[in-house]
Amino acid sequence: MNEEWWKNAVIYQVYPKSFLDTNNDGIGDLKGIDTKLNYLKELGVDALWISPIYLSPQIDNGYDIADYRKIDPMFGNNKDLEQLIKDAHRKNIRIIMDMVANHTSDKSVWFEESCKSKNNYFSDFYIWKDPKSDGSKPNNWGSNFGGSAWTYDDNRKQYYLHYYGKQQPDLNWENPKVRQVIYDVMRYWKAHGVDGWRMDVITSISKNQEFPNNPNPHQLKYVVGNQNNGPRMHEFIHEMNQEVFKPFSMMSVGEAPDSKSKDARLLVEPDREELNMIFTFEHMHVDRKPGDVNGRWAIQPVDVVQLKRTLANWQNTLDGHGWNALYFENHDRARTPSRWGNDKNYRYESATAFATILHGLKGTPFVYQGEEIGMTNPEFELKDYEDIELRTNYDKLVRKEKTISEADFLKAARKISRDNARTPMQWDSSENAGFTKGDPWFKLNPNYKNLNVSRDLNSDKSVFKYYQKLIELRHKENILKDGKFKLLLPDDKSIFIYTRTLGADEWVVVANLSDKLQQVDVLSKYSDYKTIISNYESEKLKILRPYEARILKK
Ligand code: GLC
Ligand code: CA
Repeated sequence: MNEEWWKNAVIYQVYPKSFLDTNNDGIGDLKGIDTKLNYLKELGVDALWISPIYLSPQIDNGYDIADYRKIDPMFGNNKDLEQLIKDAHRKNIRIIMDMVANHTSDKSVWFEESCKSKNNYFSDFYIWKDPKSDGSKPNNWGSNFGGSAWTYDDNRKQYYLHYYGKQQPDLNWENPKVRQVIYDVMRYWKAHGVDGWRMDVITSISKNQEFPNNPNPHQLKYVVGNQNNGPRMHEFIHEMNQEVFKPFSMMSVGEAPDSKSKDARLLVEPDREELNMIFTFEHMHVDRKPGDVNGRWAIQPVDVVQLKRTLANWQNTLDGHGWNALYFENHDRARTPSRWGNDKNYRYESATAFATILHGLKGTPFVYQGEEIGMTNPEFELKDYEDIELRTNYDKLVRKEKTISEADFLKAARKISRDNARTPMQWDSSENAGFTKGDPWFKLNPNYKNLNVSRDLNSDKSVFKYYQKLIELRHKENILKDGKFKLLLPDDKSIFIYTRTLGADEWVVVANLSDKLQQVDVLSKYSDYKTIISNYESEKLKILRPYEARILKK
């Protein structure tokens, strides 16, 4: 077995709730994924990362797990997962599960027991603190989902910590028993055939045991910050590697919110035996105003220079020291054509231009369901959004702190909110896009009649077919895996251009990330290069039309 199979693989993320419903309850399910394996095989992906499907109250769409060993009945049962794994393996598609190890649901028996007393087996499974002498919270830490990160429990007369919702208490990784139960769960799923793990907010597991107040420049009641890269993080992740990833040859990709490229080296440098890859957030912050009190809701137009600088920095810093995970979309991100491209006049062109840039880089590309047909943001009204993050931040920023107007919040939500990617998958033009024959759990993007898999496949501008080609290149061409990366024109505000070189081979990857025609003089250097892939029919050597993209080969 090829231990580093993920190095020339493309991984497809399934958000099961919104993928395909087979029993008409309006919720996507495991059988739905199984039904579409041929579709995924045709696309060419090597593995599926499946967002959490364990028993869960679904406060945060499954990122609040009540029982790690049980599939939630809304998705099917454990047997259905075994079947899916078997069917996928038969087609040479690997299965990556999502492990939420930083927190559980408050409905987990571990937490219910922990609440009961200070001296039972589970008492120290979570992070409990006494109130301050005046009864107030242990410190000023804020939750990502609004308000304090501490909630009082009447029975224990103590506060427990939660970086996310109060229904998502953080596990106490200082407790070796906690670490062992998590490793045990991971081995349990390995025994069922799972091939690897996506580790949810894994850089948050180690907490500063002094629990200091966060710096508070905006004089807020609670401050979100310093949740990542705690003092024992590397030690814990290394231990997980030794207990699970290494002995059972499981692939690992960790979500690493605040990591800079130099932190990444410590997480993915192979000799250190921690993780294979991490998802950085840095390049996804190029459309937010830095340091703004409204955080990610303070949007600005995408800064292409900053995007290039950030991606290039990760390429260069990890070169020879680790492997990049490459993505623009996932269940927490908006749709790229709507967010950074132009989903009105150049949907096909902008979807494929960003795809070209991403898939030409060194690392493992991740494709999020619907990305392969260029799905777009739905532009809902506030009442239509479901996400806990959006709702809690609306309460905090618009209602309580009044740091952003409702109109600006809605504008930001339509651009960047997580729900943009969570609308049901658009399979065809039939009612509810062929996603369900029941009542869909979440509103569909009303554009599904025109934008769906079956129409895309029959169009001469098929995003799917473009992705298919990119994925095929990744499988065939070692230069994409091993070639050296070099950024050209770092200061150009619209053109993203770089080379990959391996021995005597050289490829040029170029895209115009604007909706204006651009003249790119440096392209004349490559006049005798051959076009391998392009998103316009004919080309003019030095001219790139709106969102025109190409890969050229010496
Ligand atoms: C990660 C998940 C996100 C979830 C959060 C808390 O960021 O991707 O969806 O809300 O962790 O588990
Ligand atoms: Ca269903």
